[in-house]
Amino acid sequence: MWAMKLVWRAARIPCILLLLTCWQAPILGMALCRAAEPQGQPLAALQSQQAPLPPVTPVAAGKPAQVPDTMAQRLKACTACHGPLGRAGPDGYYPRIAGKPAGYLYNQLVAFRDGARQYPPMRSLLTGMPAAYLREIAAFFASQHPGYAPPSISTAPPATLARGRVLALDGDPDQKLPACQACHGAILLGVEPAIPALIGLPRDYLNGQLGAWRNGRRSARAPDCMAEVVRHLSDADANAVSAWLAATPVPAGALPAVQTEQKLPLECGSLAREGSP
Ligand code: HEC
Ligand code: HEC
Repeated sequence: MWAMKLVWRAARIPCILLLLTCWQAPILGMALCRAAEPQGQPLAALQSQQAPLPPVTPVAAGKPAQVPDTMAQRLKACTACHGPLGRAGPDGYYPRIAGKPAGYLYNQLVAFRDGARQYPPMRSLLTGMPAAYLREIAAFFASQHPGYAPPSISTAPPATLARGRVLALDGDPDQKLPACQACHGAILLGVEPAIPALIGLPRDYLNGQLGAWRNGRRSARAPDCMAEVVRHLSDADANAVSAWLAATPVPAGALPAVQTEQKLPLECGSLAREGSP
């Protein structure tokens, strides 16, 4: 936890400086765009009311830009931290949001807005945003697929990585711990509509999230299956599984799995009620 606190402290100063300087314009821009939005109109109609914006390079290779992507322009306040198109910040602290299932992203935006996840700079950006707009933001980032950076070389001992692999792929029946794979998908890249990827994320971020569930700073809708998973995960095992996940490369072109009828080992409220505001 000390490591996370240090990272947070180190990140806070440049964040605040940036928020005060170059983000002011995009944040204001976002607020203005939202204020100008008539409720309930489709995105295309909203886009046509915007002042013309420079075209944004499309993600899908070879596809010409048909419409200037004003959503990308509006979400510059987000991508200032989360990297271009949400592919992750440069220092491993700001997580990737691109290409994650839209229902998962939407649930997280609601959680930050309403306090079930705590990160004050995001909360202030999201305060007052209606569910319909959060859905548009979630859909935008879910549809972005910039390439993944290769994982950083792990400094964890081989025995730790081996233990992490077993936990991720098989779980530990003695600890009543289901395999991460049973919910997060065969290649651990998440499952539509509401289960996120576990690979393609830095170790500090993964450890931070498991720690947040443990100490109550993060929660998901009840029944909160991740809170239950974390109850059966020792500190050493949490560290081992994060180390292995962070060292596992994302296969080129891979996407989150599509939900199957397969029953999950625990009930997860984020799935059952995904989509409600
Ligand atoms: C000041 C930097 C900053 C800004 C601006 C910011 N974020 Fe974040 N975001 C973060 C950090 C740091 C986290 C991880 C917080 C934590 O530890 O739980 C995060 C987490 C997230 C997550 C959860 C990711 C996951 O895998 O669970 C989503 C989704 C997200 N942000 C979307 C957005 C959107 C959309 C915006 C713009 C409206 C935005 N963020 C603006 C820094 C930022
Ligand atoms: C019973 C199903 C289930 C199992 C088993 C499970 N998870 Fe999860 N996990 C979820 C769900 C659902 C979420 C999304 C929660 C939310 O909406 O915030 C999640 C979210 C997460 C996140 C947050 C990711 C992010 O981008 O912020 C992490 C980290 C995580 N799980 C790690 C693990 C690890 C490690 C294991 C194995 C030890 C595991 N999970 C096993 C269902 C599961």
